This record gives sequence, C-alpha cells and structure tokens, in this order.
Amino acid sequence: MTYTSSTVRVPDVAAVPRHIAIIMDGNGRWATQRRLPRVAGHTRGVDAVRACVEACARAGVEYLTLFAFSSENWRRPVEEVSFLMRLFVTALEREVGKLHANGIRLRVIGDLSQFDSRIQDLIRRAETKTAGNKRLTLTIAANYGGRWDILQAARKVAEQAAREGSAGVIDEQAFAEHLAMAYAPEPDLFIRTGGETRISNFLLWQLAYTELYFTDAFWPDFNADTLADAIASFGRRERRFGRTSAQLEPQSQDADSLPC
Ligand code: IPE
Ligand code: IPE
Ligand code: MG
Repeated sequence: MTYTSSTVRVPDVAAVPRHIAIIMDGNGRWATQRRLPRVAGHTRGVDAVRACVEACARAGVEYLTLFAFSSENWRRPVEEVSFLMRLFVTALEREVGKLHANGIRLRVIGDLSQFDSRIQDLIRRAETKTAGNKRLTLTIAANYGGRWDILQAARKVAEQAAREGSAGVIDEQAFAEHLAMAYAPEPDLFIRTGGETRISNFLLWQLAYTELYFTDAFWPDFNADTLADAIASFGRRERRFGRTSAQLEPQSQDADSLPC
C-alpha cells in the first residue's frame, strides 16, 4: 500500500516529482490552427504521450498519470468519440510491447464497463503483461471522473460496512484505499496544457496538496523541454502542507504530523 494521505502525514518532498498527473488538453485547437480536422490533433497527441513517457522515465519520475478521456467527453460529437476509441485500440496494440521492453507498468483507471469488450480485453492483457515492471507506472485515465472515483470508493466502503455489520472506522486512509489509484502516492505535480486553468473533474481527492502548473502549449507540442520547464517550476515551489516557512528549516523536525 503506497498511498498515504497528504492531509494525514506530510509526504517526503524531492526536487523531481515522484508522481506527475497531466491533463493533455489542446489537441483540437492545435489541429484547427493548422486547418486540419480536430482528430489530427488527437493522432499527434499520441506522439506527445510517447515523448512524455520517455522523458519522465529518464527524469526518474516513478508515476505518470495521463487524462485521456473524461466521463464528460462522451458529450462530444459521436464521430470524434469513435475516432478516440479507435485511437485507444491502436495505441494499446502498438505501444504496449515497447512499454514493456522499457520496464514500464501500464494501468488504466476509470469506469471501464462503458468501453466495448475488445478495449476491456486489451487493457486487461496490457496490465497483466506489464504488472511486474518497476521503472515507471504509467496510468491512463479513461472514462475517468474524479466524482465517479470518490463515489465508487464510497460505495465500496458502504458495502464493506454492510458485510461486517458496522460502519467501522471510516478515516482518510481506509477511504483512500478504495480509490482507483490507491497503488500510487498522491501527485506531486499537476500539469495542464492548452491554456485552460481548471481541473475538469480529474483527480479531485488526490490533488489536495498537488502543485499546479498550467501552460499555453497545446498537448501535441508537449515534449521533453516543456516537461523540464514544468519540473523546474516545481523545484522552485515551497511545499508547506499547512506549516510556516520557518518550520521547513532543517532543524525543525517536530511539525510533520497533525495532532490526533
Ligand atoms: C484533449 O484535447 C484531448 C481530449 C479531451 C480527448 P481536446 O480535444 O480537448 O482539444 P481542445 O481543448 O478542443 O483544443
Ligand atoms: C479534459 O479536457 C479531459 C481530457 C484531457 C481527457 P477537456 O477539453 O474535455 O476539458 P474541458 O471540457 O475544456 O473542461
Ligand atoms: Mg479540451
């Protein structure tokens, strides 16, 4: 169990984020600017994913989480949704072997029951194949919504309580163990490309103390340099987790846990 809530215990802080979560936004506008159909931006977006995974692995990032399709993206035109589904299948078919060869573990989070059985099967096989890899855990959030995640965790907690005949102790730790990404620490750095400054129902619970970074770059233009800028910005942040600056001085070791 890797998950420890940042509001229960102050996490370790390092210059390179252990976990980066990204909203890959701006594919459509990237394409429209070039008088291309929106979906051309999604295709180029897959190249940016590859570059980003490689750069994160080289930088020593342990967890990379990419928002690929939100629970609200079904509201898009049916042709665009179908294109995205086909792209997901192609990417799974073409990329998993390379990920595996590079020591990358693949996980997919979200309500997968809405995907057709072929996609579900590809996901299961990719997760099994890469399960033992340790270099980097790449999580793709697909049909994911932060509210869905909190609700599905709440349902599991309630089911457990009903089975055991008591509500038991529902604390942050017990609750968070049921979140879709309970295997990962909370993100240290959140990046959103494409210029919008919103969370769009991404990791609502887990972003409580994450450093937020917004860039106007469209996702297809994201590369190792843009990633390095984001990591450099992260390195300049003072992560206080509720404490004062003075408490972060090395001699002050007594403020890392909250009173019970
Ligand atoms: C992000 O790019 C990709 C998905 C949401 C699937 P967009 O498609 O949202 O691109 P813009 O924001 O319209 O430019
Ligand atoms: C968020 O992007 C979801 C993904 C990147 C998958 P959107 O483009 O869907 O977000 P909104 O609708 O502009 O908030
Ligand atoms: Mg968008």
